[in-house]
Amino acid sequence: MTNKLKYFIGNWKMFGDLGSIKIIFRINRFLNTFKKRNKVVLCVPNTLIHYFTKKIKSKNIFIGAQNCHQYKNYGAFTGSVNALMLKNAGAKFIILGHSENRSDGDTNHIINKKIESALKQKINIIFCIGETIREKNKGKTFSVLRNQIKGSINKIYNPNKIIIAYEPIWSIGTGKIPKAFELRKIFKFIKSEFSKIFKKKSPPKVLYGGSVNDKNIRFFSSIYDIDGFLIGASSQSAKKFIDIIKNYYK
Ligand code: PGA
Repeated sequence: MTNKLKYFIGNWKMFGDLGSIKIIFRINRFLNTFKKRNKVVLCVPNTLIHYFTKKIKSKNIFIGAQNCHQYKNYGAFTGSVNALMLKNAGAKFIILGHSENRSDGDTNHIINKKIESALKQKINIIFCIGETIREKNKGKTFSVLRNQIKGSINKIYNPNKIIIAYEPIWSIGTGKIPKAFELRKIFKFIKSEFSKIFKKKSPPKVLYGGSVNDKNIRFFSSIYDIDGFLIGASSQSAKKFIDIIKNYYK
């Protein structure tokens, strides 16, 4: 097993209340005794970011957000929160381009604006890309991914502030995962698309997301190019999330 830094990022989606700090404390206790090179980020609802960052004074866990409005300043956008507000609340990371937000109307252009506004606040980006089952079956995976990358990423961005999450839409919440040979090809493709954009700078980290759990994590650990995971449902339980990390290194 390599000693490369691995990312385990939880996407809590619309889950959690103040009492859910218990989950974070338990993960933190585990990480205090676990000696591998991990970066653990929990992207929680906006209502919890400030409270969690105040309670967790640990270098083991970073708190992130799940989306923001693209507008950089305060404005008349009822119900919205921008990157500046999330930074003030304590968010160090943000998920942008998640398929659940793309299906709510986030276009490549809007995602590009969101990335720009979050980078301005020095928040690290977790940029999600992925194809639908129809696109996959029509052999369009690579062109869809290329279009999502080119439509939202500018070459002036600092690649060290951007993590990519490859999340095939047909895999999110379904229990279905890609085959190893598919993942190897797709991860090489994504990394090469980014080196075209960023030229000589080192390519960003690329994570896998979609139905990752404590049982199937061993399968992914054999795929060298995967730099970590974006984990939805299984990150809402401390035990499952800890077991994912433990089992990855078994
Ligand atoms: P899942 O979600 O792990 O529940 O499939 C992943 C995601 O939507 O980021």
